[in-house]
Amino acid sequence: MERFVVTGGTRLIGEVAVPGAKNSVLKLMAASLLAPGRTVLTAVPDILDVTVMADVLTGLGATVSRHREWETPSGGGAAGGRLCIDMPEDAGGAADGDLVRRIRASVAVLGPLVARRGEARVALPGGDAIGSRALDIHVNGLTQLGAVVDVEDGVLVARTDGRLQGASIWLDFPSVGATENLVMAAVLAKGTTVIDNAAREPEIADLCAMLTAMGAQIGGAGSSTLVVDGVDGLSAVEHETVADRIVAGTYAVGALMTGGDVLIRGGRVEHLAIVLEKLVEAGAQVDVRGDGFRVAGSQRPRSIDVVTLPYPGFPTDLLPQVIALEAISSGTSLITENVFDSRFVFCRELHTLGADLRTDGHHVIVRQAARLTGTRVMASDVRAGAALVLAGLVADGVTEVTEVHHIDRGYAHFVEDLRALGADITRVRDRAVA
Ligand code: UD1
Repeated sequence: MERFVVTGGTRLIGEVAVPGAKNSVLKLMAASLLAPGRTVLTAVPDILDVTVMADVLTGLGATVSRHREWETPSGGGAAGGRLCIDMPEDAGGAADGDLVRRIRASVAVLGPLVARRGEARVALPGGDAIGSRALDIHVNGLTQLGAVVDVEDGVLVARTDGRLQGASIWLDFPSVGATENLVMAAVLAKGTTVIDNAAREPEIADLCAMLTAMGAQIGGAGSSTLVVDGVDGLSAVEHETVADRIVAGTYAVGALMTGGDVLIRGGRVEHLAIVLEKLVEAGAQVDVRGDGFRVAGSQRPRSIDVVTLPYPGFPTDLLPQVIALEAISSGTSLITENVFDSRFVFCRELHTLGADLRTDGHHVIVRQAARLTGTRVMASDVRAGAALVLAGLVADGVTEVTEVHHIDRGYAHFVEDLRALGADITRVRDRAVA
């Protein structure tokens, strides 16, 4: 059991390198199933979810080797290590249930496997406990492409006789995971697939860029209508993972909360437009540079209202961090969550630190707290954990954040990077009781 011990009262000052995005690299790894040969991914973050996804691919017959030496490009690119995936001609079979239950992103192997092998078996996935996270949009889309999808003993089984068939698919909601799964299925289908109301997250554009380099024919990448002309086969490529906008946004919020000044190297302002606009409204000074952007805060932040929406709206994955910001901002803020139904579970922990907040359905009202006071709190998911660390940076005394394996799922070198910025934070390992 590990926890982070944070002593509040320091400002974040300096620079930090943004790694490749967790939410991109996991899908790029799944895409390697679509072609035999060696896929090389760069700017790979050193996080737990990559380890789990690598194990999923290994279980499907791939050989995965990881080179963790951190490469920090001097220009504007993302930082990270290198991952080589050697995919045999006959990769496939069933994705290991225990691994799949640990990360929901592993459901991304469903589309590539059914497209290339004609059958995919994936245990119903896990991941963060932040809502019901159904799979109906994935299943409906695959069915329209000609797959027969059933649940057999808790395992999702998708089968097709011969190739999938291109189809016109309208998504009920612009689901990120469903859009990715369906694109990866459609690239090898016979004929043309049109996916309407597709999600537009930068990580999807990144996946489409890699698929296109592999030989796929995809029109409209990054828009809400994707047109995919199926091809007979794809080739493995080398691809650099897009920078993690959520990690960049977390440091930006931290800089503002602590009255600090942080150069977020590799951060892509164009992927954080609404977030940075909101932080400026809250009092941040943001300077765009060639190699990233700088965020500084000088006085107590002003309260802002935030509504989460699919991209390009305000990202749900930055909501906990913003609620922590609101807890110390002057005034009252109304926060609305539209993507997941139990994101606010973490508000209980923030309340334990002294935050003045009241939840009502998918809204939370946050009033300025007199002060936050350090105590022991628990990370319930990856973003909630990061938000509690930010709260700890501005709380009086010592905050202990437990269950930090959640934070390790998505933040590489979090403690080291925060310490380099001046934070007083350490990772403590509890000794096992015999
Ligand atoms: C991805 C991200 C996650 C982010 C989310 C929204 C990864 C690994 N995770 O998750 O960090 O918070 O996008 O930006 O990339 N839904 C259905 N039926 C479906 C699919 C989704 O009802 O078939 C619902 C979900 O329950 C949720 C909403 O749609 O309420 C959004 O889900 P989705 O966009 O699919 O998110 P994920 O891909 O799971």
